[in-house]
Amino acid sequence: MKNKAQELDSICQSLSEKGYSVVDHLFSLSVVSALQEQARQLYANKSMCAASVGRLQSKVQNQKVRGDFTFWVDEWKGEALEEVQSYYNSILNLVRTELFLPLKRFESQFCYYPPGTHYDRHKDRHYQYEHRHLSAILYLGSWEPGDGGELMIYSEAGGQQKVNPTQGRWVIFRSELEHEVLPTGRDRWSLTSWFRDDH
Ligand code: OGA
Ligand code: MN
Repeated sequence: MKNKAQELDSICQSLSEKGYSVVDHLFSLSVVSALQEQARQLYANKSMCAASVGRLQSKVQNQKVRGDFTFWVDEWKGEALEEVQSYYNSILNLVRTELFLPLKRFESQFCYYPPGTHYDRHKDRHYQYEHRHLSAILYLGSWEPGDGGELMIYSEAGGQQKVNPTQGRWVIFRSELEHEVLPTGRDRWSLTSWFRDDH
């Protein structure tokens, strides 16, 4: 078992070598379950919105491109979110000094993909507004082989990587890398975050 400093080191190393890093058990099962419950409630209350693609005027809701529902985290309250916030602050600081990325903050949203939905191949870094440097996703729900909903990352340095969204798995990758969510056969819950260089 690695300690936190070793874990952060290996995340940075993998990011610089391959452009992504996948870690299991970064957060405890109780943190992951609490976040899943929070996401379920947000969906049940109808607080989640059908996701859109593009930016500002070009935003269109397009189920053909992505079929998920999202909720922006506006208050980092509660033990589970506070733990994630504190870890992400450590990542922010380390990546700034180790990878020389001018990160200033992160933003996060809960995401829910109902069965039958997907997200087409895309980049998280907008070509004109390049403020997102890293994308991180924590998978909250149960997953078994055959369930679909895998994340495909297309990295030149690290090749093509399929990530199974198993409960508690965490992935971080450079936001300029192309990636997609394959069609899911079951409910797919996640907390998705972006590390940015603006205020
Ligand atoms: C996104 C995204 C990937 C995933 O929300 O931009 O690409 O595995 N998510 O949920
Ligand atoms: Mn994405």
